[in-house]
Amino acid sequence: MEGVCTHLGCSPVSKLTPGELGNDWQGGFYCPCHGSKFDVAGRVFTGSPAPRNLAVPPHKIDGTKLVIGINQDGKEA
Ligand code: FES
Repeated sequence: MEGVCTHLGCSPVSKLTPGELGNDWQGGFYCPCHGSKFDVAGRVFTGSPAPRNLAVPPHKIDGTKLVIGINQDGKEA
């Protein structure tokens, strides 16, 4: 996913250690600008300022390679 917060565009930081942001924190990403929290899949937690999940860029699986910037149909995005 893209490391750009969907609130105002800051860069969320990884907080992958369970408990790092409280007892119920299971790991994910934290935006230090206004406190949005995302899980390890980039899904935003309810109550965060960010209105949407982190964006997943266009990508394609080519055999064993992950190609970023190309859609599944092979077109550049
Ligand atoms: S820019 Fe990330 S919470 Fe505001």
